Amino acid sequence: MNPEKIICPCKKVSKGDILKAMAKGAKRYKDVRAATGAGSKCGKCEKEIRQFIKKHRDD
Ligand code: FES
Repeated sequence: MNPEKIICPCKKVSKGDILKAMAKGAKRYKDVRAATGAGSKCGKCEKEIRQFIKKHRDD
């Protein structure tokens, strides 16, 4: 995985940014969105972000 890869082009949020938010305690999509802004504009990235969170969550 390339952490530089942008997962939300609207807000220029990368996969690495999502992982950082998760490391700081964001567990769900809405937490990640609140922490990074990802998904807060057009919403097209929501599905991909949800899948990404599922894959990288360790609980
Ligand atoms: S691509 Fe994420 S809000 Fe538009």
